[in-house]
Amino acid sequence: MMRRAVCPGSFDPVTNGHIDVFRRAAALFDEVTVAVLINKKKSSMFTVEERIALLGAELADVPNIRIDSFHGLLVDYCRQHDIHAIVKGLRAVTDFDYELQMAQMNHGLAGIETLFVTTNPLYSYLSSSLVKEVATYGGDVRGLIPDGVHAALMAKLAESSDAAPAVAPPSPAPPA
Ligand code: PNS
Repeated sequence: MMRRAVCPGSFDPVTNGHIDVFRRAAALFDEVTVAVLINKKKSSMFTVEERIALLGAELADVPNIRIDSFHGLLVDYCRQHDIHAIVKGLRAVTDFDYELQMAQMNHGLAGIETLFVTTNPLYSYLSSSLVKEVATYGGDVRGLIPDGVHAALMAKLAESSDAAPAVAPPSPAPPA
């Protein structure tokens, strides 16, 4: 039997902490799917396609990792793809309550097991949202995200600062 697992998340964008978890999961399972949640309600910096491309570039050297996207319930995606386990990183106790709730819900819904990988302590304080916030205000996030993601993040920030100048241009004078 093929042992398949899924690593689900938003990955907006993927961090070195995520990559570490995926690689460790790939060493334990025959096939690991990194599944990007399509969430129309949550605003994101990167499109799902951009996030998939960044993940693909970073994980191209791991033959048993595939990248996909999903919407709806994770357990339905697992059923459709014959996946029996969810693998997630656990950073600190702050992750625990919510992760336990989701793990128990997913097990109750479909009998799917969730396995937790303790994150590398180097990345235990790391999150995609913190990376975006620090980078937005000019902080150095190299070393926390892959180089390709860093380049994409810098490009995204440059693009959005072009679109939204810090000082609003004067409004045109009303017609005489
Ligand atoms: O990176 P995130 O946003 O913390 O990931 C959360 C994710 C995608 C793992 C979770 O929101 C999820 O599984 N969503 C899919 C919808 C679903 O199955 N919800 C019930 C979970 S018990």
